[in-house]
Amino acid sequence: MSDPKDHAAETAAALLQLKAWKQARHELQYASEIAREAGALLRGFAERGVTWERKLSDIDLVTEADRAAEDLIVSRLTKEFPSHGILAEEGSCKAGAGVHRWIIDPLDGTTNFAHGFPHYGVSIALEENGVIVCGVVYDVSMGELFAAQRGLGAWNNGKALHVSKVADLGMSLLATGFPYDRRTSPLNNLDHFSNMKPEVHGIRRGGSASLDLCYVAAGRLDGYWEMKLKPWDVAAGALVVHEAGGQLSDLRGGEFDWSGAQTVASNGLVHDAIVAVLQRGLLP
Ligand code: IPD
Ligand code: CA
Ligand code: CA
Repeated sequence: MSDPKDHAAETAAALLQLKAWKQARHELQYASEIAREAGALLRGFAERGVTWERKLSDIDLVTEADRAAEDLIVSRLTKEFPSHGILAEEGSCKAGAGVHRWIIDPLDGTTNFAHGFPHYGVSIALEENGVIVCGVVYDVSMGELFAAQRGLGAWNNGKALHVSKVADLGMSLLATGFPYDRRTSPLNNLDHFSNMKPEVHGIRRGGSASLDLCYVAAGRLDGYWEMKLKPWDVAAGALVVHEAGGQLSDLRGGEFDWSGAQTVASNGLVHDAIVAVLQRGLLP
């Protein structure tokens, strides 16, 4: 006969797990609402016209909309989760009192946004003890809300996401991006682009890393690679890929680096083939 003490311990553990899931659902739900709200704000700016200024280089822009969206997201999160830390692209960073930190890109795809090209997103992820546990990416123009909860799955507007089944690199549609220092750095991805282009069905340069990742998760792309990204570019989208059954790694096929420095994401079936082509070009 089993020991009643074991039952009590099991029940206590199950209750704790349930409490953790409820809390996690609350955080994901809350982040989803804020992402939609920030999206509406960005849409308003887009309709009124955008003024931009240069940030770190000639081609790295920031607009008043980036800052306004970040202010909105950070103030909402700080009010709801006062003990959580914040890492946000436009500078609203604070250390938390505990193990949680929100990682935010208020407008991923600023170049597109500044030109009126309607492909950009809001990315919000939650890290717990250094591990991303949930994340959302909101495609403002399409009204698509990509969300993931570690261990529970990934969804687009509530519908479960799964990566594609394409196993042949030659029939794969990939995406990539080019770093903002491409005018001055030889590590600019142009060599990888020209090596990859003849090997695949097509390559897209969408202009929003978080949405590129979500498109891999949704099976619209079979793979994606980029270098010199930042944590806020990849945090939410990479979890969406992971939870949709995809594979993530660095450019050599090693462990994925959540700092964003090196990103390869795929359906898993063409991953090694993508990595093999990347070995022919300059690597960080
Ligand atoms: C950029 C976009 C782009 C990627 C850049 C990112 P931003 O983010 O995600 O697709 O190629 O390197 O920095 O500046 O628009 O937030
Ligand atoms: Ca970004
Ligand atoms: Ca941004």
